[in-house]
Amino acid sequence: MSRSPLPYSPKILELFRNPKNLGRMEDATVSASAGSPACGDMISFYLKIDENMVIVKASFESYGCAANIATASMLTEMVKNKTLEEAWRISWKDVADEVGGLPSVKFHCGVLAVGALRRAIREFFKKKGSKPDWMPEKETFEEKQALEEEELARIISQRLIPGEVK
Ligand code: FES
Repeated sequence: MSRSPLPYSPKILELFRNPKNLGRMEDATVSASAGSPACGDMISFYLKIDENMVIVKASFESYGCAANIATASMLTEMVKNKTLEEAWRISWKDVADEVGGLPSVKFHCGVLAVGALRRAIREFFKKKGSKPDWMPEKETFEEKQALEEEELARIISQRLIPGEVK
């Protein structure tokens, strides 16, 4: 039995084949890794931030699907030369629009990309020891959906407990 291919936009397919800003950034100011509880895939986001709190460079590593690679790649382009506040305000729907839309079963892949970016931005301010007014005290939906590696491992191992019916 063959499965029909997902209705990916041409933009997603293009970014999947030729992702921009793919790879670890050695001189990053801050980075964050996050995993999706929906599928168990991981992503890392790297940011180079200047003294005016402007993102001068962004890159990513993804162990996710085509939708995740495409949205993360698009996001690295969208945040370039933006202030941290402007980058924070980019929603997963904005990114999905930029890549020409996501199939509904792939929404979480875009959420994971934005969640990892926000986790990196939050980490930056945590290291600085100050939180700007525009950053919510509590984690946003996207951040909650992009889990720490340990939390992700815990959830996945729970799914594997033999004899448990979920
Ligand atoms: Fe896991 Fe897309 S299915 S990131």
